[in-house]
Amino acid sequence: MRNLTQDNITQAVLARLADTPDPRLKEVVTSLVQHLHAFARDVKLTEQEWFQGIEFLTRVGHITDDKRQEFILLSDTLGLSMLTVAMNNDKPAGCTESTVFGPFYVEDAPHFDLGEDVANGAPGIPCLVRGTVRGLGGEPVPGAEIHVWQADAEGKYDVQRTGGDGHRARGVLHASGKGEYHFRSILAEAYPIPDDGPVGDMLKATKRHPWRPAHLHFMIKAPGYETLITHVFRNGDAYLDSDAVFGVRQSLVADWVKQPDGTYLVEYDFVVNPAGAGA
Ligand code: BEZ
Ligand code: FE
Repeated sequence: MRNLTQDNITQAVLARLADTPDPRLKEVVTSLVQHLHAFARDVKLTEQEWFQGIEFLTRVGHITDDKRQEFILLSDTLGLSMLTVAMNNDKPAGCTESTVFGPFYVEDAPHFDLGEDVANGAPGIPCLVRGTVRGLGGEPVPGAEIHVWQADAEGKYDVQRTGGDGHRARGVLHASGKGEYHFRSILAEAYPIPDDGPVGDMLKATKRHPWRPAHLHFMIKAPGYETLITHVFRNGDAYLDSDAVFGVRQSLVADWVKQPDGTYLVEYDFVVNPAGAGA
């Protein structure tokens, strides 16, 4: 095919995809081409703007390594991550809602016994976290595997600190035989997502702030149940209504209660969805 015009080039590209053997790949790439072309037509994309876009994505790639995942930040700040989470986690009423995973989970976090302090020296005000893990029918989930991770009082995850002192403010615990858990950590505080790269430039250019409201990350796994990836947010935080990554759900907001000794207590009960239960 030669002499393609702006009126027939989309069909020509789609025709070129006709023999894609994997039907799902064919569906996704076909739709992507249609939407990309429609976008370019919609905004009447100039050549200079096209090149700026290429340069932007090149910067996103260059700053990304095993510690810094700028593509996830880009997806998060454009709402794509939360849209994907929402579309794929339509659980029955009563289940704990899901939210974004974020880029700061690590696979090899240390294991702790119930009651231990996962902070491991991370700066922050001491805090006790406790609650239960139950199934949708109200049954306790004994031994549920609870992964927790959070930023410290300076708004940094351990993995963001160069020459870091190892794992801090993260760990893996197992709920008791009654599905109960409790551990010590530090008070969750609001923090800005990394904004010294191209995603930060995009936020500045669109007059957006980079802040996330204070939260703890949880991932809960148990045989026979869907894995739950979520946060517990701190009630009263100034950024609950303007989370940079659109992850807040009201059902995930809890009170962090100051105790007479100046430490904090937060209680949150999780409800996990039996595997195969659907929505
Ligand atoms: C986080 O909560 O850890 C996070 C989520 C999205 C982007 C950056 C950080
Ligand atoms: Fe976080």
